[in-house]
Amino acid sequence: MQSKEEIYYCQPVFRPPSEAYSLLIQLTEGCTFKCDFCMSNLRKKFLVRDIKLVKKDLDIARKQYGPNVRKIFLLDGNAMVTPTEKLLEVISYASILFPNLERCGVYAHSKDILKKSNEQLRMLFEAGLKIAYVGFESGSDKLLEMVNKQASKSDHIKASKRLMKAGITLSGTLINGLGGGNNPKISKEHALESADLVNKICPDDNRIWYIAFLTLMVASGTEIFKKKLKGEFLEMNSIEILQELKTFITRIDFENKNANCIFRSNHASNYLPIKGILDREKGNILSILNYGIAHKDILRPEFYRGL
Ligand SMILES: C[S@@+](CC[C@H](N)C(=O)[O-])C[C@H]1O[C@@H](n2cnc3c(N)ncnc32)[C@H](O)[C@@H]1O
Ligand code: SF4
Repeated sequence: MQSKEEIYYCQPVFRPPSEAYSLLIQLTEGCTFKCDFCMSNLRKKFLVRDIKLVKKDLDIARKQYGPNVRKIFLLDGNAMVTPTEKLLEVISYASILFPNLERCGVYAHSKDILKKSNEQLRMLFEAGLKIAYVGFESGSDKLLEMVNKQASKSDHIKASKRLMKAGITLSGTLINGLGGGNNPKISKEHALESADLVNKICPDDNRIWYIAFLTLMVASGTEIFKKKLKGEFLEMNSIEILQELKTFITRIDFENKNANCIFRSNHASNYLPIKGILDREKGNILSILNYGIAHKDILRPEFYRGL
């Protein structure tokens, strides 16, 4: 039961690394999807919390942290699925309590974005929803289907464009090694189609947007974990992972040479930390990758990797 003066969390909670210093507010619990690699909803039944309780958590946060909270992340796995009027109510209330609030963020599945109209997305942006973290995972329709993503490359393109049109910053994530090590053909398709996806969503202005590559972690209890136990899924090794990423980077080619796509592959799951601007710093990124491929000893050891 929620105690009177404690912010409620349904553990375990998942948030993007860049929201490490944000106020976390539990708006939903779990996720309405069930991707084969993800453990977000393994122990949680999906629900949108009672908005009165969410507002109460915001009141507690105001008492505990004062009026100067600048960033809020609305949990859980796909809080964007929340009906627009409820999302607006929560974000607007947070903006009143925290007058210096710079942004609210959510995880959003592409299908959740596509269910909202352009006008609804614009209203959310104006209320304070400034960033959405979208799990693309891959640009390959074949691989997206294999991992039960319930979204296609074309959904990802449409959702990204609609999000950016509304002014909301896009942060898209892809998963290195998602196709497994027993399938070199799918690894190549994953890299090529993912690069094509990112090329196609590149906006024609110089706004900042983000693309991150995580590396697959086979988490206990997930469908991929079950396949691995049965010998149906083999993990890629660190060099195969870097080769796949190299193919992806090589194929990045934006029409807009002033694009500001902040590329990161520096999550705890990655073997080699990489950061750069696409596609301007493609050459540097490829040099780092080539160095990592030639010097296996500098890669993050398996036991230090995590989600
Ligand atoms: C908690 S999920 C939320 C994303 C959002 N629900 C969506 O589907 O768009 C955040 C991201 O973490 C990454 N992720 C989840 N499980 C992972 C795993 N086992 N290994 C590597 N990355 C993983 C995926 O890129 C996923 O989109
Ligand atoms: S990746 Fe996103 S949509 Fe898929 S199960 Fe995890 S949280 Fe849900």
